[in-house]
Amino acid sequence: MKKLITAILFLLPVTAFAAGGGTTYPNDKANINYGDKASIQNGAKLYVNYCQGCHSMEYVRYSRIAQDLDLTEEQASELILGEGKLGDTMNKAMDKELAEKWFGVNPLDLSLVARVRGNDWVYNYLRAFYLDDSRPFGVNNTVFPSVGMPHVLSDLQGLQAKSDELVAVEDTIATGKSRMEVLRATVNDAEASAEAVAKAEEEIALIEEEVHDAELEYAKLAREGKMFTIVKEGDMTPQEYDHAVRDLVAFMAYTANPVKLKSKAIGLWSLLFLLILLVLAYFLKKEFWKDIKKK
Ligand code: HEC
Repeated sequence: MKKLITAILFLLPVTAFAAGGGTTYPNDKANINYGDKASIQNGAKLYVNYCQGCHSMEYVRYSRIAQDLDLTEEQASELILGEGKLGDTMNKAMDKELAEKWFGVNPLDLSLVARVRGNDWVYNYLRAFYLDDSRPFGVNNTVFPSVGMPHVLSDLQGLQAKSDELVAVEDTIATGKSRMEVLRATVNDAEASAEAVAKAEEEIALIEEEVHDAELEYAKLAREGKMFTIVKEGDMTPQEYDHAVRDLVAFMAYTANPVKLKSKAIGLWSLLFLLILLVLAYFLKKEFWKDIKKK
């Protein structure tokens, strides 16, 4: 029996965690459901209305979307910008040179962005714009600092600012880090007295702990949704906005990986098949060994 369990565990797919860069906050899960076509359809609509002005999806054709998402011809034609036809790819409305002039960068193609960045990253990114006067568009982003994209969904979400708690925590982290740098210089200074070095090391240990606590507090604020406070209300409540963004990410996750709509079903059938095979193999093994043991 133990062997059987081991074998089953072996068959279960191992989830690999991609450990890319440092963690950014908010760090919530998008929790998209590839089986929920209404959600992906709503995402497609939001995408066309709010994103396609600047971004393209050169690997995605309207006709493919219509087919995959069960859209009627009328629904599909609502998605098409300007003169486009059903067989066209989803090109952006804005011309490349103008975009570079306005934003300093050409907004990249979003066909695969959910695969490159990850669904959760995109989900958090679109919820992390906050007011910042020092930026050209008046907003910054905690997931993508100094981003060149304006907060295009602000009429839905409203405008948010960093909460006082977040500002305080960030301040503790920043001052702690710069203080530690000064102290480390003392530690590395060949001419510093042993006493001064010991004192600096002691202080570094204390500050390290303080910074660590502040970082935990930062993560806690993120988990509890307390990083930002709404300064100007939008058309949606925060919950409605999160749902809308989830739909939008579901659409991008689908364009990044259209097979996903079907792969879940294929995967389940394959697992079921393997399980049946496993049971058969187990009994076959028992049958063989019965004969061998008798001898
Ligand atoms: C007004 C033009 C504009 C609109 C509209 C717009 N974006 Fe952007 N977007 C940009 C620019 C410019 C960048 C590049 C930012 C940078 O590199 O600093 C960008 C970057 C991004 C990125 C980061 C890509 C990466 O991996 O670096 C994502 C994701 C994104 N946009 C998604 C969206 C979505 C989703 C929408 C619709 C809700 C949208 N954008 C609407 C201009 C726009």
